[in-house]
Amino acid sequence: MTAATESSQEYQWVPKASAIAREAGARLREFLAQGVKTEYKGDVDLVTVADRTVEKLIRTRLAEAFPEHGVYGEEGTRERMAGEFRWYVDPLDGTTNFAHGFPHFCVSLGLEHRPAHTAPDHDGTIVAAVIYDPMRDELFTAERGRGALLNGKPMHVSRNAVLAESLIATGFPSRKRHDNPNVHFYHEFTMRSHGVRRAGSAALDLAYVACGRLDAFWEFNLNPWDTAAGVLLVEEAGGRVTGFAGQKFQLNSNENLASNGLIHDELMTLFREMFAGRDLSPILTPQQFAQRRAARAAAHH
Ligand code: IPD
Ligand code: CA
Ligand code: CA
Repeated sequence: MTAATESSQEYQWVPKASAIAREAGARLREFLAQGVKTEYKGDVDLVTVADRTVEKLIRTRLAEAFPEHGVYGEEGTRERMAGEFRWYVDPLDGTTNFAHGFPHFCVSLGLEHRPAHTAPDHDGTIVAAVIYDPMRDELFTAERGRGALLNGKPMHVSRNAVLAESLIATGFPSRKRHDNPNVHFYHEFTMRSHGVRRAGSAALDLAYVACGRLDAFWEFNLNPWDTAAGVLLVEEAGGRVTGFAGQKFQLNSNENLASNGLIHDELMTLFREMFAGRDLSPILTPQQFAQRRAARAAAHH
């Protein structure tokens, strides 16, 4: 990519969306500085206030910048849904982190192109992505066909070709946890990789796959506002995003597997085998561990 094609003038939506994400991120920083923890326990649910206030800000700014575009936000915004373009907005991805003052969260804006004939339950094409981490001042951007950038510089997925040498990530839902088998995958992938991070922001997990800090990410039951932007970042940075069995990624699909492309097949094989009943790599149970520890202590006396 030449310097000319990297210049912001070449980008259709990213410059304005980046300014909006930066303004939104600055608001989140302010909310955090106000002392999220104390307020969170009081009458005012500051997390909700931050989520809603920032979604409203983004909705207003998107309407000013792109008056024809639709907006579909986590906190309930549904505007101009019949439009040819639609922004998926997560004003605060990583709410649990934010509520605890754990400084890892972001603003995520993904733009979908939905040509006139697109059926309501069919995806269009994600054409632009902006994810902003206000705590590290990191801006991840992409437009389809133009590569992906981190703070204006081209970014690429990693080159690790084996899971055993990979750092990967996942997330867990905050509701209906007992219905979700992901801890089993967490177990198995932990045994077979350099480690599985569970950092609490799916959008940043995807951005980190795109810039090569992570080699892969998977999660069940994400929503379009979590994934729209991050998926385009990964693809434009040279990676791959599918369902667990390799099926085409869809905004409403309830499984997401993103990787550098090189370890994708290895991960899909493990998913297939585990869904078919493959045994987990054995580890000591807490009881076995306690018995062994007690036996060792007894031997020393
Ligand atoms: C959550 C985060 C988290 C993921 C959850 C999401 P929120 O989004 O992305 O990493 O594990 O599934 O719901 O609620 O913080 O916007
Ligand atoms: Ca989210
Ligand atoms: Ca959110």
